[in-house]
Amino acid sequence: MPAPGLNLTSDYYTGAYPSLLWEMTVCQSLGDGHGTFARALKKPAAYGFLLADYLQRETSLPVQCGKIVEVGGGYGTLMAALLEALKPQSVTMVDISPTLLEKQKIRLKKHPAAFHCEDIFSWLKGLKTSLDLLILNEIIGDFPTITNIAKNALSACQPGKKVKPNQLPLPAELNSHDLLAEAARLINTYKLNIADLPETFNLNYGALRFIEQLAETEVARTFISEHGSDTLVPYPFSLYPAIVPTTDRNPRCIRLKDHNEYNIRFAHLAQIAEALNFKVKRLHLMDLLQVRFDDEIDYLLRTRQPVNEEQEIFLEFYEHIAEYQGIILQR
Ligand SMILES: C[S@@+](CC[C@H](N)C(=O)[O-])C[C@H]1O[C@@H](n2cnc3c(N)ncnc32)[C@H](O)[C@@H]1O
Repeated sequence: MPAPGLNLTSDYYTGAYPSLLWEMTVCQSLGDGHGTFARALKKPAAYGFLLADYLQRETSLPVQCGKIVEVGGGYGTLMAALLEALKPQSVTMVDISPTLLEKQKIRLKKHPAAFHCEDIFSWLKGLKTSLDLLILNEIIGDFPTITNIAKNALSACQPGKKVKPNQLPLPAELNSHDLLAEAARLINTYKLNIADLPETFNLNYGALRFIEQLAETEVARTFISEHGSDTLVPYPFSLYPAIVPTTDRNPRCIRLKDHNEYNIRFAHLAQIAEALNFKVKRLHLMDLLQVRFDDEIDYLLRTRQPVNEEQEIFLEFYEHIAEYQGIILQR
């Protein structure tokens, strides 16, 4: 039986050539809101505008927004539009990748933003100020995932000690015995449901640790989006088997150039967040984006036979975003 392992992506992002061109992130696909992907939306717009609008409708985000931080901002595309929409007093971009931070600086050069190169887990330990909004868009799948956890090994294992989350060793410092103990600690402490997972399963350790560390801070609201392993596609898209993701809820490995990420079991995030007294709202990205649904889309999703290039792109987009979820955590 394979031993538990830890999937890490930090070497890829801190290396010389991290690129997002190999994965179709939603904010990159929608770009400035004028391309073909954007025409699959009821009201074509850049992702940052749609997110700002959604957060103002669904949360208590003030119109005059104070401090915003985005961690893992990639090319800065989301923040460029969000800044125009929200006009916050201060913006900080935190990223583990020096190369991507440079790209963010160029993208956001017209705005007074601060840039900080650090791993999120150590950055959170030092976060002493309050924030109005923290954004993690398509990054938690990159956080460390514990792979190959055997249920029988888990039940024989002593859970890790209960220490303050900020005093835990950083995920990358854990050895294989610690990994199992940490998995047992999280599962026992928060009574995470693993009954429906296979005998050997994967746990989104970094994403769950992030919620524990977040609970120690004064962040008023946090928006997180990522591929989900337990995504329910909203109606009417749920009627089209071609785009409904098939899943056993076990976080799945997504193979990308020179690194792998794992999709996220959002129910586990919600369980921990609720236990730590966050107000939790889960969402499907199709609802946030207000994806178009009309006769053309119905025909396309039913037949899967695009008749032109635009429809080919639409089909790819619908298949892709069907797996995406979001979660908003508020104090
Ligand atoms: C998949 S990209 C997503 C980029 C962007 N948010 C988007 O949606 O297009 C992941 C981003 O998170 C950053 N990242 C990955 N792991 C990180 C960590 N542990 N701490 C801080 N940033 C991290 C990467 O450098 C990259 O900017």
